[in-house]
Amino acid sequence: MTTMTGPTPVTGAVGTAHTRIEGLDKVTGAARYAGDVPYAELAHGWLVLSTIARGRIRSVEADPVLAMPGVLAVLHHGNAPRVNADYTGLLGRPDPTVAVFQHDRVPFAGWPVALVVAETSEQAREAAEALVVRYDEEPHDVAFFAGHPGTYTPEGNPRMQAEAGKGDLEAELAASAVVVDAEYTTPQEHHNPLEPHAAMARWDSGRLEVIDSNQGSTWVAEELANLFSLDPSSVRVRSEHVGGAFGSKGVRPHQVLAVMATTVLHRPVRVVLTRRQLFSLVGYRSPTAQRVRLGADPDGRLRALDHQALNLTSKVHEFVETSAGLGRVMYDADAHHTVNRVVALDVPTPTWMRAPGAAPGSFALECALDELAEKCGVDPIALRARNEPDAGPVSGLPFSSRNVLACFQEGARRFGWADRDPRPGQRRDGRWLIGTGTAAATHPSGVAPSTASVTAEPDGTFTVRITAADVGTGARTALTLIAAEALEVEPERVRVRIADSDFGQAMVAGGSMGTRSWAWAVTSAVRELRELLVLGDGIPPEGITARSNTAEAVGALPMRERHAFGAQFAEVGVDVVTGEVRVRRMLGIFAAGRIVNPLTARSQLVGGMVWGLSMALHEEAARDQASGALVGADLAGYHFAANADVPLIEADWVDDPDDEDPVGGIKGIGEVSIVGVAAAIANAVWHATGVRHRHLPIRPDRVL
Ligand code: MOS
Repeated sequence: MTTMTGPTPVTGAVGTAHTRIEGLDKVTGAARYAGDVPYAELAHGWLVLSTIARGRIRSVEADPVLAMPGVLAVLHHGNAPRVNADYTGLLGRPDPTVAVFQHDRVPFAGWPVALVVAETSEQAREAAEALVVRYDEEPHDVAFFAGHPGTYTPEGNPRMQAEAGKGDLEAELAASAVVVDAEYTTPQEHHNPLEPHAAMARWDSGRLEVIDSNQGSTWVAEELANLFSLDPSSVRVRSEHVGGAFGSKGVRPHQVLAVMATTVLHRPVRVVLTRRQLFSLVGYRSPTAQRVRLGADPDGRLRALDHQALNLTSKVHEFVETSAGLGRVMYDADAHHTVNRVVALDVPTPTWMRAPGAAPGSFALECALDELAEKCGVDPIALRARNEPDAGPVSGLPFSSRNVLACFQEGARRFGWADRDPRPGQRRDGRWLIGTGTAAATHPSGVAPSTASVTAEPDGTFTVRITAADVGTGARTALTLIAAEALEVEPERVRVRIADSDFGQAMVAGGSMGTRSWAWAVTSAVRELRELLVLGDGIPPEGITARSNTAEAVGALPMRERHAFGAQFAEVGVDVVTGEVRVRRMLGIFAAGRIVNPLTARSQLVGGMVWGLSMALHEEAARDQASGALVGADLAGYHFAANADVPLIEADWVDDPDDEDPVGGIKGIGEVSIVGVAAAIANAVWHATGVRHRHLPIRPDRVL
């Protein structure tokens, strides 16, 4: 007999620490990733990228390579199947970089020019390295700088209004007793998941099957259906385990190449991108040049806030890094102006990377706030409290919940902020100058329509099916807790199956929207199921299944400013001899709604803070102006924080209830934790040394 409300109903699964459901499978190697799943007759593709930054392919000299051992095919623009890139998908129009081998133009260094397919991966690699491609080279422009003559204000970016504002900016600046006018830059930064992008494709009884590593299997399935003009129901994409993803794992050349090759060769084909190829094919965070102007009364109340940001994009696709968006949420001012501008260069297209816009934007805005606090002689936390808005500063919408000051209060208490001497350069420990800094964090917490099903099984267990993706965050486990609580059963009785496009449309693991969107669909399906079970009498062998679709409910959600918030604290030591900055401790306190699984939530928050540390002190990709290619595009040349760079990091949260929320007050936590970290560290470096660092990373040569 199966009941959901037995004599001892189990509640409170949400909020209880739970280790990852698939943790044992992962550490024992039982979990198979896209590059691991074995298939009979599997062929292997190895990609060849352009060595020039702009021009035309004159010839792909395939014949000598086709004679090499094991080589089955060389695909290129002269022989590849045609695709259709003229469509608008879930997240807009596709980057033409995924329409591989459709013409002879080369728009950037690292553009796909050929795929060698062979019996083994080693044979494919050897042949790919031997393949000669000849080009007609043309002059390129890869130089990013503020004031580039190609700068423009993008119109119609679906993610954010390019320009927003109110009031008379110049008049308020002129009337301000205190003005900060500063320029900040952040460099090009790369995400590089532990598991590189990989996909296996095969035709199976008239259906295209793709085993992938992605952030959304229905999303990728839809894009492939569009590109290859297939009926969406004839494409199935699965992505059971994902070894990291921070915005780059959508539709990318590897899935398209695998589909092309399996279509031509009539056997399964796998394409795995190399570590180096990730640097040009899966997106990155654009460099930014930002100017912030703040005007304030002597007590620090803002009269004017102006944030202008510039990022680069490619010449084939427009991407806007919305760095200037933060002020629209964080601080009110009588005159308010924020604008995101772009310049198109002969480079690969940037993409979303953990807290797009907010990560680089918070460096500029939160450092400028610290500079204003110094000039006004006001404590940085008091300055933020003085400028706390009652409603969205630009939208005028109410906040669903806004506990940023609670984060600062709790953070200040735990960090020992009250004992801080506000003057810079006062603390010394041997050859280290010591300083502390703080910054605010915020990230939108949106929701998108999703579908789910829940089946009551005859053995008393429940099966949830939803096309969620667990990119390493613990999403599978979080959904198990959410379903268990809704069903009022122990989590052990709930089986959550994810990442199969056949389960139906669901939000991708991105934009800090996954858990909130999926939780809504799962709890809605459980509600439906409970009604069916009340009516029914007994569970048939195939179980009883209820389905949900939150499209209507999402559409009816009242308009709110809905965001996660946080307060970041850092203590640094600056070596006066070498200029090295070392972070000594960090504390992040967040207001991020109802925390589903404290164990994985804390891990995710600490992970974001580590990345923020890395952004502040280490990460920087360098592009060679002459060749137009990156220098040292691998994990040896691209420097990032290692264990030895990372001190004790504490992450915690304050209560952040939202009783009106139909999703139980769950917010996203994936991105807020990186926001503000670089600013807190830069502000701490100022406090240690008295010198402002407005260009990341804060390298020793810049400190000296
Ligand atoms: Mo994230 S940058 O929304 O995957």
